[in-house]
Amino acid sequence: MAFRNIVMVKKQPLILSVESSCDDTSAAVLKGLKVLSNVVCSQEVHSNFGGVVPELASRQHMANIVPTVHEALKVANVSKEDLDAIAFTQGPGLLGSLLVGGSFIKGMAVSSGAKLIGVNHMHAHIMAHLLEANSSRPGFPFLCLTVSGGHTQIVKVLEPNKFELIGETLDDAAGEAFDKTAKLLGLPYPGGPLIDKHAAKGEVKFKFTRSRVDDFKFSFSGLKTNVLQFLKRELAKNEGFITENLNDICASVQSEIVGNLLCELEKAADLHGIQNLAIAGGVSANSFLRSELLRLGKSRGWNVFIPEFQFCTDNAAMLGAVAYYKFLNSEFSDLNVKPDARLEF
Ligand code: KG4
Ligand code: ZN
Repeated sequence: MAFRNIVMVKKQPLILSVESSCDDTSAAVLKGLKVLSNVVCSQEVHSNFGGVVPELASRQHMANIVPTVHEALKVANVSKEDLDAIAFTQGPGLLGSLLVGGSFIKGMAVSSGAKLIGVNHMHAHIMAHLLEANSSRPGFPFLCLTVSGGHTQIVKVLEPNKFELIGETLDDAAGEAFDKTAKLLGLPYPGGPLIDKHAAKGEVKFKFTRSRVDDFKFSFSGLKTNVLQFLKRELAKNEGFITENLNDICASVQSEIVGNLLCELEKAADLHGIQNLAIAGGVSANSFLRSELLRLGKSRGWNVFIPEFQFCTDNAAMLGAVAYYKFLNSEFSDLNVKPDARLEF
């Protein structure tokens, strides 16, 4: 008698996700953890204001959301009737921006019959690591340093969608520290990528003081004041100081921020005995943070995970990873789900 092995292959869910927490409108389609499309429409309108203007951000989301979702479905070659679930960023973020995404997605869920899934933006940054598109994916547990424009956190990830917050910033986020310093140097918003670019051509010549806080906590608001006072002093002596030293100032500020982040991450890894270390969020696109983490990881014998560049800054594919595991556990939202600007971690 011949037996055949029968393997039950479950159909992977097809999920559309939409991210609109700040100044990027993004839509993605995932089949399981495979990214079929990930479209990001960024808003240029804020660059002259030194930061995101909430009212302008909501208006831009209104204008961009339909074409962005349309493009994501087109690239993935699916129609809305094919979708098993639709996910959106419930928070944290700018309330007006969240409302645009949430309202649009609720309407789409009703008209398509797809399940609705609300996602925490910070969970999504971390879960970006589980997308199939990454060259390698961390095993559990892993420690994730999440560094974005609004948050700086060290999180222990126990299993998919199961997190333990170990420490976070008491005031400004790391991305804010980059952006606010860049503004003092006359660079447009967002300044983080520009500091990264100038720093690559400079040397660490200036020293800034680090705020003293408890282990695994951060405080970046003092750095801005420190840089401001330093610039005032130097500009009084030489009014061309910034122009003549821009690359070195950027390298020095970047070195202080990255040094602070990695110092706390290393302490957390030692205390929790974790060898799998990851970074996530917009600031994880920083080239110095990436190279320093790889260098430290090599010397400490860690497995280091850095997401693909497109999954570092705000994008909708990362929401799809959270939504996939929620879908498997039937964790759906109902139509009363409310966008929440201060959604708890
Ligand atoms: O995660 P994200 O795209 O949006 C938020 O959720 O906040 O992060 C945006 C932040 C901004 O502060 C931006 O300046 C920073 O990430 N950023 C960088 C780099 N690319 C983006 N900071 C330093 N170096 C970079 N290369
Ligand atoms: Zn973000």
